[in-house]
Amino acid sequence: MRSIDVVILISGRGSNMEALLKSIHSGVIQANVLAVISNKPTALGLETAKRFGTECIVEENLDNLDSVLTTYSPDLICLAGFMRILPPNITAKYTIMNIHPSLLPLYPGLRAPNQAIKAKAKYSGCTVHFVEEGVDTGPIILQAVVPVLDSDTPEILADRILGQEHIIYSQAVNAFIQGRLSRTPV
Ligand code: GRF
Repeated sequence: MRSIDVVILISGRGSNMEALLKSIHSGVIQANVLAVISNKPTALGLETAKRFGTECIVEENLDNLDSVLTTYSPDLICLAGFMRILPPNITAKYTIMNIHPSLLPLYPGLRAPNQAIKAKAKYSGCTVHFVEEGVDTGPIILQAVVPVLDSDTPEILADRILGQEHIIYSQAVNAFIQGRLSRTPV
């Protein structure tokens, strides 16, 4: 099986990044993480990435991101709670995946669990998709469904969804590595 070079972009807690790093370190995913890049110097995920021995970069200016990425030239970029919209020069150049806490195309954008509760949805979930220009658009790779309970707060629902995010993100990356998915940047 081929191994690929990955860069992970984060802005905060980094639990999806951690799930990916665990899958990689345990050999479940055949990938090499070249770097974790955060646009926030205070992102908690940076500490986690360092514990895994992963190179960490802070780049607050989106205009500089392309030149940072060029030095790594990754096969795949994984957005893991990266809270900025990537410019077209980056989305056109790289294969990029994102994880979003809803069953896209429902509830794109911020606070997706709140949106699901407000809509009185009976089910919600999470989506791994390829990234294109636009917010939470792009071909869907994998989704997982969770129930929305009457007693749910946005936080409780977000936690239930997060458990599934940690599972399907690794599965999606693995499908890409195994050649079960292909993507030409558009
Ligand atoms: C996750 O819910 C992810 O779907 C969304 O942002 C959140 C990031 O959480 N894009 P974490 O930083 O991976 O813990």
